[in-house]
Amino acid sequence: MASGQANDLKRQVLALKAHWKKGAPKDMRATFADDPKRFSRYSLQLDDLLLDWSKCLVDDEALSLLGEMAKVAKVEERRDAMFAGKPINNTEGRAVLHIALRNRSGKPIKVDGEDVMPGVKEVLDRMAAFANGLRSGEIKGAKNKPITDIVNIGIGGSDLGPAMATLAMSPYHDGPKAHFVSNIDSAHIADTLAGLDPATTLIIIASKTFTTIETMTNAKAARKWIADALGENAVGKHFAAVSTALDKVDAFGIPADRIFGFWDWVGGRYSIWSAIGLPLMIAIGPENFGRFLDGAHAMDEHFRKTPLKKNLPMMLGLIGYWHRAISGYTSRAVIPYDQRLARLPAYLQQLDMESNGKGVTIDGKPVTGPTGPVVWGEPGTNGQHAFFQLLHQGTDTIPVEFIVAAKGHEPQLDNQHEMLLANCLAQSEALMRGRTLDEAKAQLAAKNLPKSEVNRIAPHRVFTGNRPSITIIHDLLDPYTLGRLIALYEHRVFVEAQLYGINAFDQWGVELGKELATELLPVVSGDVKPKDKDASTQGLVAHLRKRRGK
Ligand code: F6P
Repeated sequence: MASGQANDLKRQVLALKAHWKKGAPKDMRATFADDPKRFSRYSLQLDDLLLDWSKCLVDDEALSLLGEMAKVAKVEERRDAMFAGKPINNTEGRAVLHIALRNRSGKPIKVDGEDVMPGVKEVLDRMAAFANGLRSGEIKGAKNKPITDIVNIGIGGSDLGPAMATLAMSPYHDGPKAHFVSNIDSAHIADTLAGLDPATTLIIIASKTFTTIETMTNAKAARKWIADALGENAVGKHFAAVSTALDKVDAFGIPADRIFGFWDWVGGRYSIWSAIGLPLMIAIGPENFGRFLDGAHAMDEHFRKTPLKKNLPMMLGLIGYWHRAISGYTSRAVIPYDQRLARLPAYLQQLDMESNGKGVTIDGKPVTGPTGPVVWGEPGTNGQHAFFQLLHQGTDTIPVEFIVAAKGHEPQLDNQHEMLLANCLAQSEALMRGRTLDEAKAQLAAKNLPKSEVNRIAPHRVFTGNRPSITIIHDLLDPYTLGRLIALYEHRVFVEAQLYGINAFDQWGVELGKELATELLPVVSGDVKPKDKDASTQGLVAHLRKRRGK
C-alpha cells in the first residue's frame, strides 16, 4: 500500500473515532423521535430483501465518513478486481472467483486469459446428471437397491455450507436424505452410520485438498463399513468425491465418473456453490439448486453495479466495520428467527472469522486496529431463553443481526409464524429502547408494591437500551432467497476485509495447530516420548497416557 493511502486511511479512522465519541447518536429514543424518516433513510431494499440498520448508533455524518473510508480503502476497485479474476488472494497467488460458480449471465469470466465458465458448466451438468440418477433411482447401489441416504464426509467449508443449506432447504427435500460427518471424534461417524443401511447409502468424500486428516480418517472408516457389509467390489458404487486434487481422489479408488472437481480459485468457505454443494443438489434437485445459484448471482450483480449508498453488502460491511473498528464491539450475534437456519451462525462463523481473523495487513505489516469480530448465534426464539439476558443487561454491547422471513412454510401454523415475527421485532425494539429507572419504578408501583420494594427492585429491571441491531427480512426462505442471503454475507465479509486492509482469502492461522496435532499423535499413542514440550503439554500427555493405560 502506498504511504499516501496509508496516511489517508489513518486520518479517516481518526475522523470516524472522533465522530463516534462526540457526534454519533447515543440516545436512540430521541434520535427516532427527532427523525420520523429514520427507518426509510437507514434501510435498503433489493426486491423483497430488506436491510434495516436504523437502530444502529449512526447518523448522516457517520455514514458519510464511512463512505469516504470505503473510497480511501478502494473497496470498489478491489471488488472490481475480484470480479475480473485478478489474483487478489496475494499470499496464495490466486484469483477469488466463487462468483463464477453462480455466474448466470452467460458472459465469460477469465483467469489468466482463460474463460472458466465452460468448466463450471460442465461440472454443474455432471452433478445434475448424477443427482437426477440418484433421485430417480436409476443409479443404484451394488445390491441393486436405490440410494436412500447420502453421507457427506468433509469439514470446515466442505461441511458447513452443505450442512447449513440442506437443513435450511428442508421444505424442498424430495431426494435421498443427507447426513453430514465432520468431526474426527469417532462418535460422529459411528452415530451417523448406526441408523443406515450400507446397501442404500452413498458416501460423498468432500475435501478441497483431499488431505484433511479428519476427512481422510472418516472416509477410511466409511470405506471399511461399506466393504465389510457389501464386499470390496461394492466400494465404487457407494462412493463419490468432490475435490480439487483429482490425482489424490483417483488413488482412493473412486471411479472417474463419480469425481466432481472444482478449482483453486474457490476458497473452502466460499465453496457451497461448487460441487461441494452436491449433497444439497441431491436433496433438493438440480432445478432448486439452480435457483439457489440464481439468488446468489442476483446479489453479485447488485453488489457489482449498485452505488455504495444503495448497495446492501456495502452498507452491511460499513456498519460491521463501524461496530468493530470504531465502536470497539468485539463480537456480533447473528440470530436467525428461523429454526431451519440453525446452522447459519456456525456457517457465518467460518466465513467471517476464517476470512477476517487476521493480524497482518495485505502487505504483511501488523494491523494497527482491530480486525474481524467474534461471530456467534443461535436461532430465535431459543436464544431469548438462554443468552439474551446478557445482550440486554450485560456489561458488553453486542450488536445483533436479526434475520427473519415474512412468511413461513407452514400456512396452517401461521399464528406461530406471527408469534415468531412479534418476538423478533420485540427483541430489537427492547435492545434499542431499554427501560429507564423511572419506567421500572412506575411499573412496579402500578403493582401496588410498597415504595421500599419498588426502590429495591427497580434497578434490577433497568435496561440501558441504545444497543444496536440490524434486521434482515426476506419473504420466504426458498432456494433463491438462501443463495442471495449467503452472497450478501460473503460480500459483507469482503467489504470489511478491505476496510481492515487484510487478505480475507487465506487461512494460515489454522496451520500451526494441524502441525502440532500431527507431531502429538505418536506421543498420545504412547509410541514416542514427549520432548521439547512445555510442562503443561507434558503433564496433560502423562495424565492421558496413564488414564488410557499406555
Ligand atoms: O483447516 C481449515 C480448512 O483448510 C478450511 O479452510 C477448509 O474449509 C477446511 O479446512 C477443509 O479443507 P478441505 O476441503 O481441503 O478438506
